[in-house]
Amino acid sequence: MRESKINNRTLAAVLLCGLALNPILRAVRTGALEEKNQDRFQMFLFGADYYPEQWPENFWEADAERMQEAGVNAVRIGEFGWSVMEPARGTYDFSLFDRVIATLARHKIKTILGTPTATPPKWLTHNYPEVLEVFADGRKSNDQTRRHYCYNSSLYRKLSRAIVEAMAMHYRDNPNVIGWQIDNEFNNENPECYSDSCRAAFRVWLEARYRTLRSLNERWGTRFWSQWYSTWEQIDLPFPSTSLQNPALMLDFKRFISDSVSSYMAEQIAVIRRYRPHDFITTNGVFRNIDYYAFSKPLDIYAVDNYPTFSEETQYTTGSSLTMARGFNGRMMVMEELTGPAGQTYLLRTPQPGEVGLWAFQTIAHGADGVLHFRWRTARRGVEEYWSGVLDQDNIPGQRYEDFKLEGRQVRTIGPEILGSKIISRIAVLNDFESQWVYDYQYLTHDVNTSASYTQLFQAASELKYNIDFIGPDAAFNKYKIIFAPRMVFVDSTMAAKIREFVEQGGTFILAAHSALMDRDNALIDQPRPAMLSELFGVEVKATQTYSSATLPKNRIRLLDGTEIPVEALADGVSPKDATVIGTWSGDFLQGSAAFTERSAGKGKAVYYGSLLNLTAARVLTERFAMEEGLRPLLTGMPKEVEVTCRTKGSTDYFFVLNHENHDVRVNPGAGYFDLLQQKPASEGFTLGPYQYTVLRKEHTPSRWPAGAN
Ligand code: GAL
Repeated sequence: MRESKINNRTLAAVLLCGLALNPILRAVRTGALEEKNQDRFQMFLFGADYYPEQWPENFWEADAERMQEAGVNAVRIGEFGWSVMEPARGTYDFSLFDRVIATLARHKIKTILGTPTATPPKWLTHNYPEVLEVFADGRKSNDQTRRHYCYNSSLYRKLSRAIVEAMAMHYRDNPNVIGWQIDNEFNNENPECYSDSCRAAFRVWLEARYRTLRSLNERWGTRFWSQWYSTWEQIDLPFPSTSLQNPALMLDFKRFISDSVSSYMAEQIAVIRRYRPHDFITTNGVFRNIDYYAFSKPLDIYAVDNYPTFSEETQYTTGSSLTMARGFNGRMMVMEELTGPAGQTYLLRTPQPGEVGLWAFQTIAHGADGVLHFRWRTARRGVEEYWSGVLDQDNIPGQRYEDFKLEGRQVRTIGPEILGSKIISRIAVLNDFESQWVYDYQYLTHDVNTSASYTQLFQAASELKYNIDFIGPDAAFNKYKIIFAPRMVFVDSTMAAKIREFVEQGGTFILAAHSALMDRDNALIDQPRPAMLSELFGVEVKATQTYSSATLPKNRIRLLDGTEIPVEALADGVSPKDATVIGTWSGDFLQGSAAFTERSAGKGKAVYYGSLLNLTAARVLTERFAMEEGLRPLLTGMPKEVEVTCRTKGSTDYFFVLNHENHDVRVNPGAGYFDLLQQKPASEGFTLGPYQYTVLRKEHTPSRWPAGAN
């Protein structure tokens, strides 16, 4: 077969147009853009997202006064303000934002500037419709909303760099700007684009990855269905088609999207770092098709947008999402925190009195070093008329403003002291975005819910009052005692060796069904499952049965002590070689075969759990192995509905105790704690009212955490 290099003209054109995807990505990956400077993020932030351009100027002074009264020290502005900042191409006018920043500064409030690229101005999309995102059906996005642009449009990149450079230059000496949010919620609303620019960039990206077409053909397995490519131009984006697409292509498409958004963001970061090297840079939100571990590397802190009422049961889903985001680059803040009833065309449930403050403190409990509420005032016009601000559309301060003031007081009391403290966990859950992307396409059954296992493991640990981390595949394992791998589709010799070392040094590693079967080409490994780990775990998987919600009652894992765990979507029939059987299948053709095994190796244990995890499994496994590893709860005397986390700084522990219920609960932490919110010694036992929370401080003895744990 003829080897064909991508047509040089196409490549040159793409690079010349400013795509330059790979050098920038290399810079992101090697950390050249990282230059992390701990000093950039210096204060515990409290504030709001402010849209002064949507209100008459004579509101601003009173806004700033009220903010100051509430203890606000930072606001975010500007992220949707492109048409104000650049009303015509190349004509810049920052005067409105200058005046706002000065007004806020007179009230001791600093500014985080949003780069405005999530909302291109009309002159841009009308003159240059080629910048628009294209949907999978080939339609160009309509330009009357937001986020309707393509990351790989070289023109959009150029215009984005230009507005960001104009901003950074304009504010280069402004002492009241402290940080930057790049764009707004990457991949929210536009997680895939099928434009001509993306198609061209995808081919360049593939050539950089595979070097030769032969290599791509072989690694993608294009003999299958006669898909062998003889020129790079034959490769297309995976438009929906007659039948299904190659899983290797689908996975690379996701990687390409993640790299595209990362390199788009990196261009803006590079500009800002040039003019404002001491400001912190972040971006906000968590959405599909981004590998957040790589993506967040060049950022100083990751910002989440926390809207608990998108789910009915908020405690564990929110705790789990915060845990996930905290793990991205190790530092987290909240850029948008729910403030009240919220909706766009829909309306979410209204928070109960006290819940908004509880949720804000839940973010701090999980490591946030700042909370800004969305939004300062309810918009009178536009898509978010139903999204409540701290102030209502009538601008009359009401209960939400009172709650905000209370929260501001509390944050001021604890913020400076806890800034930079860390959550130290002994339990971790391995998370690999590429594994999730595999499930996005090869979803197996409609009953497989990839995010549920994370929430359930979080819940199990939280119920037992343990901290828990979600970690990426490159994270160090040796800080942990227990690691769950609920979705480890991929394995390679490095990961296999890392798991072995972790186990031999005394850890418990728990591998769930459908793990360790693929290489990173998304191709099956030619070994019995779990591939490369079969010896360590002492098992081979001989058969797998699938279950739907209707057939779930047909099978369960029965443990020797009589505990039963319902099957979850998949049941592996496991053949133990030299592993001990802990549980067997109770039904179906797998009846009696091993389902749940463990094998000791060195000082630790390799555990195979032959189904996906559900809540029962998460609870049973966490309790069992935490007890074996001798883990102690963060606090005792805490009822089930009370959430407990611990942040640590040096030898000081800060325990967050949060009542998620609408009734009083009695807690008995014991003696020796200092109540940080009340600023006085805490009683040995006390009552928390509905949705009430507290923060307890105590010095820990050196033995509490192993050396180097924080
Ligand atoms: C976020 C977004 C904000 C606003 C908010 C409320 O996703 O960043 O701009 O839309 O939701 O809907």
